[in-house]
Amino acid sequence: LQDKKNKLIAIHNATAAFYHQVLMNTVTGEPALAYLKERGFTTELLQEFQIGFSPPDKTATQKILENQNFAASLLKETGIFSDRSDSSELLDRFAGRIMFPLRNEKGATVAFSGRILPTDNAEKSDYHEAKYLNSPETILFSKRNFLFNLDKARVNMRKTSEVVLFEGYMDVISAWNADQKNGVASMGTALTDEQMRILNKTVDSVVLCYDGDRAGMEATRKAIDLLSTNQRFDISIFPMQPGMDPDDYIQEKGPQAFREGIQNHKESIFQFQSRFLKTQIDLDSEKNRVEYLERMLKELVQVDSIIERELYLNELAEDFDIDLAVLKKQLQEYQQVHM
Ligand code: UTP
Ligand code: MN
Ligand code: MN
Ligand code: MN
Ligand code: MN
Repeated sequence: LQDKKNKLIAIHNATAAFYHQVLMNTVTGEPALAYLKERGFTTELLQEFQIGFSPPDKTATQKILENQNFAASLLKETGIFSDRSDSSELLDRFAGRIMFPLRNEKGATVAFSGRILPTDNAEKSDYHEAKYLNSPETILFSKRNFLFNLDKARVNMRKTSEVVLFEGYMDVISAWNADQKNGVASMGTALTDEQMRILNKTVDSVVLCYDGDRAGMEATRKAIDLLSTNQRFDISIFPMQPGMDPDDYIQEKGPQAFREGIQNHKESIFQFQSRFLKTQIDLDSEKNRVEYLERMLKELVQVDSIIERELYLNELAEDFDIDLAVLKKQLQEYQQVHM
């Protein structure tokens, strides 16, 4: 099996090198290269992550690989080729996409993700295919065990005892370019137990930095729930305003503002829950204000530090112009239920 894995990795390496070459040095790659440059990718960054372009001609990849004497039967097992391929003609499922090698913790390329290349006249909603496409599960690649950039980030995660979790690998790369080098991302799925176990081996602190939209906030809440089951993690959130993701933030406000934000402007879980709840509950009505207060007091039960609890209680009392003693009494009731 190991021998077979090594061969499959060799194919992935050769394919990554081919895609990269097409992007950097061919006419075919020019539109993709222009798009990436426009998004702030430097040549060094493209090299560092070995970003590439898969030619629109679906048969080009097979030809290149067969010239390097890889057997067609092995090529089929890589997941690079479409299931519709027959043995004589293997069709690259990523044809026409910008290609990102997915490297395992040892730095070996075990899969790919391809981003669609936007055309000038197409709006986002016009895409007929998914914006991002990943390799299927193979003997080399399982999404639930995979974290993008773990190979590069791990040494920095260990140094800082902190990881920054992003929603997309574009954000990871953008953060890396902004000199925030302890970032990883899952591949479009919610955080898994397996990924949490990997993080637990290396860090104490997890900073969640997901997109500022509704989906990002939902994903943050889910990640908090999962990570909270592990008492070891210090969890905080670096919030993005609605309509922004970390990559947008870095482009707009600059690398230094981003790093400084990760350092000094994180929210606690309680602060995040409060902000999230406010996007769901309209506080103009009395009934909703009561619901909000009750739910936040229930959140407060989870806060272990007495000082923190006191601080948040005071904030709630002030915000809602309500007697602190009343809030304390209600909190005590919830605490008893909790025990
Ligand atoms: P986003 O839509 O937030 O992508 O999806 P992004 O990173 O901001 O990308 P750009 O800036 O538009 O290029 C976040 C992640 O969700 C997964 C991918 O893993 C992506 O990195 N995703 C998204 C998919 O798997 N398929 C999709 O069609 C869209
Ligand atoms: Mn998103
Ligand atoms: Mn700790
Ligand atoms: Mn995004
Ligand atoms: Mn983005």
